[in-house]
Amino acid sequence: MIVIGIHNTGIQSAAAVAVDGEISFAVMEERLDRRKYSKYFPRLGLESCLAHVGAKLSDVDCFAIGWNPGINIGARYRAGFSEWPAYAGERLYSNPNHILPMLDDPPLRATDQIFHWESGGRTTFTYTNHHLAHIALSYYPSGFDHAAILISDGYGERATTVWAEARGGEIRILRSYDFPQSLGSFYSSVTEHLGYRPDCDEWKVMGASALGDPGNYMSAMQRLLRMTDDGGFRLDLDYFDHFNFDTAGMFSRRVDEILGMPRRRDEPLTQRHYDIAAAAQRRLEDVLSASVKWLKDQTEAPDLCLGGGVMMNSVFNGRVTLEGPFCNVFVPFAPDDSGNALGAALWASGRHGGSSVNLRRPLSPCLGKSYGNAEIIDILKRYGLNFREVADPAVEAADLLMAGKVVGWFQGRMEFGQRALGSRSIIADPRRADMKDRINAAVKYREAFRPFAPAVLAENVAEYFDCPATARAPFMEKVFPVRAEKRAAIPAVVHADGSGRLQTVSRDDHPEFHALISEFYRRSGVPVVLNTSFNLNGEPIVEHPTDAVRTFFSSGMDALVIGNAVLTKRQTAGGA
Ligand SMILES: [Fe+2]
Repeated sequence: MIVIGIHNTGIQSAAAVAVDGEISFAVMEERLDRRKYSKYFPRLGLESCLAHVGAKLSDVDCFAIGWNPGINIGARYRAGFSEWPAYAGERLYSNPNHILPMLDDPPLRATDQIFHWESGGRTTFTYTNHHLAHIALSYYPSGFDHAAILISDGYGERATTVWAEARGGEIRILRSYDFPQSLGSFYSSVTEHLGYRPDCDEWKVMGASALGDPGNYMSAMQRLLRMTDDGGFRLDLDYFDHFNFDTAGMFSRRVDEILGMPRRRDEPLTQRHYDIAAAAQRRLEDVLSASVKWLKDQTEAPDLCLGGGVMMNSVFNGRVTLEGPFCNVFVPFAPDDSGNALGAALWASGRHGGSSVNLRRPLSPCLGKSYGNAEIIDILKRYGLNFREVADPAVEAADLLMAGKVVGWFQGRMEFGQRALGSRSIIADPRRADMKDRINAAVKYREAFRPFAPAVLAENVAEYFDCPATARAPFMEKVFPVRAEKRAAIPAVVHADGSGRLQTVSRDDHPEFHALISEFYRRSGVPVVLNTSFNLNGEPIVEHPTDAVRTFFSSGMDALVIGNAVLTKRQTAGGA
């Protein structure tokens, strides 16, 4: 059974393909159309999915969409939309819009749309509830049997927050909040107030929060976002305008009374801005922690799954992992909406294929294309580039790191999601305090306060981070404190508050990247490398070898290790 999953509501369009309940390929459209945060229909991604499994469009059993318009069609009859369609295709929803509201508005899970062809064939679309798609990617690959699930984002069709429980593959929704009561909107409003782009730059606020004192604006945050006794929350809507889509600004101007004037984009960040970021971050964490505790009381589940765009907040993810009350916490590699291409495909596979038990297996993020060595060499020759072919790229890269080089690392299948996890990465020696500035100057051009990530051998995690030896963060999805005695050893990857947004790398999950860090460990005694995404500021992460070559020569990177080929700038410039 072939299911194509599609996300194309909002930014980061993506496509995925599941064969008999297993995701075998997935890609974000931005990597292919080279438009950062691409929101176009993922046509290139769809074609790549089909090519990977050797299928034609007509072979696809179901197209699974991570958004269910049926929820709002069924809510109420809308004469203006339904009586006189401007486009003939609108009959596909105007008829249900007349009939569904006569039902008692039962909760929907999904909507099917089936086109029957004269040939006898048919094309099926399954529109999965947005949050159900988030749940599917958060729960099925977690490896947990009985789990509590918390999903939080800006908004889905209506819901913004869903508390759920799963056992033996069955998912049960316990409670949900609808828009405009949204934690994602709360954090995005603060993001905009601090002069950044909402729904885009939230991670900058999270990074800035480490430099602030949360106490100075905590009472303001408590007014904006109130906690309720049952582990829920309420936004004071007097301060917000995010639900008035025709007004500029997510906060109402009343917020200036308690947060001060918003920062202009070109205005320097001051301690006041860091303090606001710190207070918003702490408030979000406190509200989410109370929600998670409520889930524990309701479900008594041993483990927790998190999903939705708010769970890109790796500081909270690290905190709840270390502080409990759950034994294990799983956050998928794409908890944001791009992951809904995968989540919708998994959920629809279970429903149409009846194979829900098959869905529950681990899922590597390395789901994109790989390029063979011969293909890479061919491209490099075609461009007339000077390069060396080497037997072991890990050995070469480790030597380059030891020589203080900033290295582009392009190996194996591309990772899915917003973070580079060792397939399309820029790597450097974390022991060098100047490396953060060098990479910023050479490639990233980003705010000095934003930290770079440490990738650590999984077996050494507790030597460098304040966590149990069994703790894992394979997707750079959690922030842990760096052990006080180790901070001076890896200054380039320690944030202002002594934390690190780590990636634990295990041999089974990522053999090439594990080999590289192991070689660096052998030479330096430090089982950690600096890992940041292989892209220029404002561009998508590289996908094709030509993207890698172009980025290498448009930046201050010193070397590129791509497949078994090594390129260095000095070598190329000298014509060696
Ligand atoms: Fe979402």
